[in-house]
Amino acid sequence: MTDSPFQPLPGAPLRELAARRGIRIGTALDHALLDGASPYVAVAAGQFNSVTTENALKWDHTEYPKGVLSWERADRIVSFARAHDQRVRGHALVWHRQNPAWVSEDEQSPAELRALIRDRIAVTVGRYAGSIACWDVVNEPLEWDGSYRESLWHKALGPGYVAEALHWARQADPAAKLYINDYEVESLCPKSDALYALAKQLLLNGVPLDGIGFQAHLVLGRIPTDLEANLRRFADLGLDVAITELDIRVHLPADEARLAQQAEEYASVVRTCLRVPRCQELTLWGFTDALSWIPAEYPEYGAAAILDDGYAPKPAYHAVASVLGETEGRRPGRP
Ligand code: G3I
Repeated sequence: MTDSPFQPLPGAPLRELAARRGIRIGTALDHALLDGASPYVAVAAGQFNSVTTENALKWDHTEYPKGVLSWERADRIVSFARAHDQRVRGHALVWHRQNPAWVSEDEQSPAELRALIRDRIAVTVGRYAGSIACWDVVNEPLEWDGSYRESLWHKALGPGYVAEALHWARQADPAAKLYINDYEVESLCPKSDALYALAKQLLLNGVPLDGIGFQAHLVLGRIPTDLEANLRRFADLGLDVAITELDIRVHLPADEARLAQQAEEYASVVRTCLRVPRCQELTLWGFTDALSWIPAEYPEYGAAAILDDGYAPKPAYHAVASVLGETEGRRPGRP
């Protein structure tokens, strides 16, 4: 980030525009950046009416060592959200990454692993009942070809772990909305076909699944043209469909033309969500290029967010605001 003073973003806040359209606009929130006055706090509080715990509720952040539970990070996010009238999406209960080092197939039998993950879900969801409205219960269960990811959980518990996890979460908070969340499932493709088949089967079996999270870590120039058709088929099953981690990475250098194209592509994702009535949440995976996860994982890419390194609005910011501000297709009420 530059040293120049933070200029408040122009126009009506995104959260106000989104609320008028009947959707929530969210961001991933870093628990470590919420103290004091900063551009980060100003934008997080002012622009969004939903926040997702970026890392604070991942298992490696809540239980290290075994049996010692640490909630202060997630509590910080929940208090921030309460102070700013924001809804919280809890992320992520069952995942193959960011588990504590002491959770492993070498240390525990399948029965022990099952008890551990059951207790993690029960304790975590129970603790935040009433404070966390929806959960990414199972994160990234599938491979690109639609097969189950050979995660610790799949290996130890078999494919039934997805249903079990959802049941445990429902028991812990009957009011929370429960999601499966995954990436590269935005288009009609083998992975989203498999997710669709899984969701359908879970619903037929009476498993408490309320929605699907489409992460949407997209690449400039490769925005799926069938996003709407895909969202609609899941919605037709009676599920909510949320865009949960949107960013659009740009092959560097991010010149003017690429940033203009990025703005159009952000606009098209927002427009698509607005066209699908069951799409009532659109969450960005962070809002400033200064803190984006992209450069660490894709060194040739960057500039994925709607604000630049200095928290100044990029064309993408204006495009998102403009689409949310359109009056056509307005939906009544607040989500
Ligand atoms: O907590 C340690 C800290 O103690 C240490 O000093 C520091 C040094 O590198 O690392 C810190 O851990 C980092 C952690 O974020 C918290 O900041 C990890 O190295 C880093 O790998 C981790 O990255 C996160 C990533 O998930 C890893 O799984 C990103 O912040 C987070 O944005 C990203 O989010 C995921 C979603 O959960 C699921 N979908 C994909 C998305 C992007 O990868």
